[in-house]
Amino acid sequence: MTTSMPSRRVSASAPAKINLVLHVGSPDITGFHPLLTAFQAVDVWDTVTLTESATMSIECRAGFDASMVPLDDSNISWRAIELLRAHHHLDANVSIEIDKTIPIAGGMAGGSADAAATILAATTLWETDVPLHELFDITRALGSDVPFSMVGGQAIGRGRGDVLQSIDVEQPLHLVVVMSDGHLSTPKVYAELDRLRAEQIKVPDALDEDFLDAWRRGDAEALAPLLHNDLEPAALSLMPQLGNTLDQVTAAGALTAMVSGSGPSVIGLARSAKHAAEIEAALKGFGLRAISTQSTPRSAHLQQGPAGQTGSPE
Ligand code: C5P
Repeated sequence: MTTSMPSRRVSASAPAKINLVLHVGSPDITGFHPLLTAFQAVDVWDTVTLTESATMSIECRAGFDASMVPLDDSNISWRAIELLRAHHHLDANVSIEIDKTIPIAGGMAGGSADAAATILAATTLWETDVPLHELFDITRALGSDVPFSMVGGQAIGRGRGDVLQSIDVEQPLHLVVVMSDGHLSTPKVYAELDRLRAEQIKVPDALDEDFLDAWRRGDAEALAPLLHNDLEPAALSLMPQLGNTLDQVTAAGALTAMVSGSGPSVIGLARSAKHAAEIEAALKGFGLRAISTQSTPRSAHLQQGPAGQTGSPE
C-alpha cells in the first residue's frame, strides 16, 4: 500500500483599491498614460489558494456573477504563475482557487489583487524565498496596479501607477462602494479620455498639500471637496447611467461621490462607520448593490493555517 503526502496548499489575500485622486496625462510613446494618483487600499479582499497539483487548473467563487472571470491561461493569476515559473526555472503545476469579493472590472483592481495574492502564495508554496522587490518586474508586467496591490495601505503612485511612495495616516476613512451593473474596459476608458481631450495634458508634479494633509489626518469633511478623478468624464461618457448612481450616492447622504478609477464602481465618502452604514442602507433602499467599508493600512498577506491546509479567512 502506498500513502501519498497531502498536497500542500497556501492561501493569500490582497485588497481592493480606490484612487482618492487620479490625475492622468496624455499618453507617452508606449501608449500608456502617465499618472499621479493617491492610492488607498480598502477593506475588501480577494483570496487566492494554490494547491500543488499534477496539472494546471483554475476556479473562481463569488457571491455575485463572476462569469466574466476567464477560467484558463488568460486569467491574470494563471499568467502570474507562468511568469514566476519561468523566473525561477520551475516546472510545477498548481490548482488555483480564487475567492472574489472585489467587484469584477469595477475599477477597484480586483484582477491586480488576484495577481498580488497569487505571487505571494506561490512564493511561499515553492519556498523561492526571494525578496518581493526582486519580483517587481513581474509584478508590473502583470498590470500597472499590481505593485500597489502587493504593498496596500496608502501610497502616492507615479509613472503608470507602479512607482510608489507609501504614506502613513492617523485615521481610517469610511466609505461606501456601489457595484454598478455592467463593466468598463480600462483601455477603452483611457481611449475615451484621449478622445474627449482637445489638448495635451501633463500630470501635476505633486498632489495638493491640503489633500495630503486631510488624507494623513483621515479628515473626511476636509477631504470630500478635494477628491478628483480625471477618468470620471470618460467613464460617464461610455456609461451615462453612472450619473444617476453618483446622484443617488449623494442623495443617500455621502459627503461626496466619485467614480472609482476607470469605473464603473462608484464610491461615496462617509464621516464615520455609522454614517457609512446609513448610506449603505439608503442605497440598498434605492435597489443598488452597496457595501460600507473602510480604508485599510494592510498589504497583501498570507492566510495562516496548519501546514498542508488552507488558511482560514480572517
Ligand atoms: O496595466 P493595466 O493592465 O492595468 O492596464 C490596462 C490598460 O489600461 C493598458 O493596456 C492601457 O491601455 C491602459 N492604461 C494606460 N495608462 C496607465 C494604465 C493603464 O493607458 N497608466
